[in-house]
Amino acid sequence: MSNTQDYVQWFRGAAPYIKAHLKRTFVIMVSDEVIYSDRFIGLVHDIALLNHLGIKLVILHGSRHSIDAHLSKNGLESRFHRNIRITDSDSLPFVVQAINEVKTYFESHLSMGLPNTPMSGSEISLVGGNFVIGMPLGVIDGVDMQHSGKVRAIRHEAINELLSLNHVVLLSNLGYSRTGEVFNLPTEELAGEVARTLQADKLIFIQERRADASSLATTLSTSQCEAMLREDTTPADLKSLLQQAIHAIQAQVKRVHIIDQQVDGGLLLELFTRDGYGTMVTNLFYEGCRAATIDDVGGILSLIEPLEASGVLVVRSREQLELEIRYFHVIEKDGMIIACIASIPDSAENLAEIACLAVHEDYRRAGLGNQLLQVAENQASTRGISELYALTTRSSHWFLEHGYRESPDFALPATRRVNYNPKRGSKILIKSI
Ligand SMILES: CC(C)(COP(=O)(O)OP(=O)(O)OC[C@H]1O[C@@H](n2cnc3c(N)ncnc32)[C@H](O)[C@@H]1OP(=O)(O)O)[C@@H](O)C(=O)NCCC(=O)NCCS
Repeated sequence: MSNTQDYVQWFRGAAPYIKAHLKRTFVIMVSDEVIYSDRFIGLVHDIALLNHLGIKLVILHGSRHSIDAHLSKNGLESRFHRNIRITDSDSLPFVVQAINEVKTYFESHLSMGLPNTPMSGSEISLVGGNFVIGMPLGVIDGVDMQHSGKVRAIRHEAINELLSLNHVVLLSNLGYSRTGEVFNLPTEELAGEVARTLQADKLIFIQERRADASSLATTLSTSQCEAMLREDTTPADLKSLLQQAIHAIQAQVKRVHIIDQQVDGGLLLELFTRDGYGTMVTNLFYEGCRAATIDDVGGILSLIEPLEASGVLVVRSREQLELEIRYFHVIEKDGMIIACIASIPDSAENLAEIACLAVHEDYRRAGLGNQLLQVAENQASTRGISELYALTTRSSHWFLEHGYRESPDFALPATRRVNYNPKRGSKILIKSI
């Protein structure tokens, strides 16, 4: 495929996301490791682009590593309790200094005008202020956390007003108490609190590459996050992000993304491509969607019988369905099966068939087909399957739009050839995962 075609295809693929993100509120936390890395400039361009695409942005910068460096330069030890820094009176001035330094660095980069770049000439209006009201964390397990604080309130009306005027709001991890004290707040927690208070559409964590990043799934539900929190092997800093992700989703933030800035443009890939780049935490895919049980056979039959009768789906007997039920996922609403899919593996050939995809007519075009396909693909991928195929008479274009390609010469596995009816003239679509 030529570069021009790639470009056109990419742009068309991004268009629905550009439309979907318009006027949405994203809260983005950027770790200071990323800010001081050579990939930060790329991220600055991408933030400018998001602002110009009409996305409302609240950005928080981390400062953990800068604080460590300032303290150690001044002969002070970094002390933590339960992975939270203890900010005593001696260290507070250096903590504030470190935070302000990161903030200034961030502000200066977002004020550059971005010469000689695709965003050349673009100006971003960055606004900060006393939007975060803090309070002391107090004494935990007998340890006085001193000037380490937690969020008491967020001045969300003021933030929303600034966002509606297209300003980008920049927040540091400092909170001010009503008595005029300064508190050092954990940035991840502050980001979560801001996203919840603003009822943001997305909470995004951008951080340096984690050693275990490749083992993180592309999509996680909150129950999967909870399971990871129970694992001793999950690193403490990842646990803190997952904890914030769970809180945010429970408070109606729709999606949380964890992205490493290893690849230039990782944020754009995550936001504007179907496959994304990082890890997305959401319950949207999973609401009502679950693995089928033998009790669902009747419900699935009611759903697919009209489609079988009209020749859209191949006829499946009750017995066959009962045998294959463990490969099915269904979406249930008010006790009725409104959508189903099967991912039937052929382990000998490292293949799986995506079969029996059906969405009830009343619920079409709401993304259920797409959600089920992702679940089925994830299921195949966790079984170690590397290639998927689907046979369809009427929905080949739907599959093409989901990254499949037509493959008339594809050799069906022997087990599938037994039931194959060439008279149906089905198209064969395949996808490598
Ligand atoms: C194909 C099917 C599963 C899609 O379900 P869905 O929940 O409506 O899908 P989504 O909401 O994720 O996607 C909807 C989009 O796909 C498009 N679409 C739906 N069916 C399509 C088809 N056969 N060909 C091309 N595009 C199709 C819709 O027009 C819509 O796009 P738009 O809103 O931009 O117009 C559903 O139409 C269905 O049950 N069809 C009958 C069964 C079938 O053909 N199954 C596949 C064989 S295994």
